[in-house]
Amino acid sequence: MAITVEPLHARPRPREQMTRLLTDGWPEFIFHDQATGRYLGQVRELFGDLELVLLDDGEVVAAGWAVPLRWNGQVEDLPAGYTDCLVRALAAYDAGDFPDTLAVLAAQVRFERRGDGLAGMLLTAFRQLAEEAGWEYVICPVRPTHKARYPLTPIGRYVEWTRPDGAPLDPWIRTHWRLGARVLATAPRSQVITGTVAEWQTWTGLAFPDSGDYVIPDGLSTLHIDREADQGVYVEPNVWLQHR
Ligand SMILES: CC(C)(COP(=O)(O)OP(=O)(O)OC[C@H]1O[C@@H](n2cnc3c(N)ncnc32)[C@H](O)[C@@H]1OP(=O)(O)O)[C@@H](O)C(=O)NCCC(=O)NCCS
Repeated sequence: MAITVEPLHARPRPREQMTRLLTDGWPEFIFHDQATGRYLGQVRELFGDLELVLLDDGEVVAAGWAVPLRWNGQVEDLPAGYTDCLVRALAAYDAGDFPDTLAVLAAQVRFERRGDGLAGMLLTAFRQLAEEAGWEYVICPVRPTHKARYPLTPIGRYVEWTRPDGAPLDPWIRTHWRLGARVLATAPRSQVITGTVAEWQTWTGLAFPDSGDYVIPDGLSTLHIDREADQGVYVEPNVWLQHR
């Protein structure tokens, strides 16, 4: 295995490779976050050099992206979560502030290559990138991959769960933890996704005959449906990890 790392936009990428990479891993509703949608285009345009890919013999097997922002190192000053990272990155850019923090927002490994340690290599590449840029902190609003199995458990309790050997129970948190990252705080409102009842039915494949809370496929928490208002609201909890 000859793994190398490159900026995504260093050269054209075969569409078939990118499609294979991005197949599987994300619930449909995550692509309908209107707040995130408002900022994403500009973020991608400004910070496209912070999108990295891992190549195995030239073929894309993993990808991730990050944004630069300012943070004073204190928990109270952390962004509210994923969406707020976009806001903070754009605010720092607009103000002409020199960033001091890299926030790694997503990582994706090709389905059949998961469990091979590729995500750890990607995180290491981001840490290196931050170091070379002279940015002091690397933080991640992590979407714990097994949280969807426990949608009723508060995120604050979930992050405390460990295996008998003391490692975090969640596999994705564990990958960060093995690299020396530590949990800083929870981000209970990392993303807030709102849609009509019909939209939520399409995104989840479920019917919502009554108002109330529903467990939805791949939801890290429950979906609240208000039929009178014709609205469903999902609040996604994440976990703040800091790499040292
Ligand atoms: C989360 C993700 C990036 C992790 O990448 P990865 O390269 O598989 O990570 P690792 O190799 O470090 O594996 C992490 C753990 O998950 C286990 N694992 C996850 N998927 C696995 C699979 N399909 N087969 C075997 N093991 C798997 C690994 O064994 C490992 O557990 P361990 O600590 O006991 O060894 C990857 O699963 C993924 O792309 N998921 C979909 C997108 C996503 O959820 N991204 C994270 C939110 S930003």
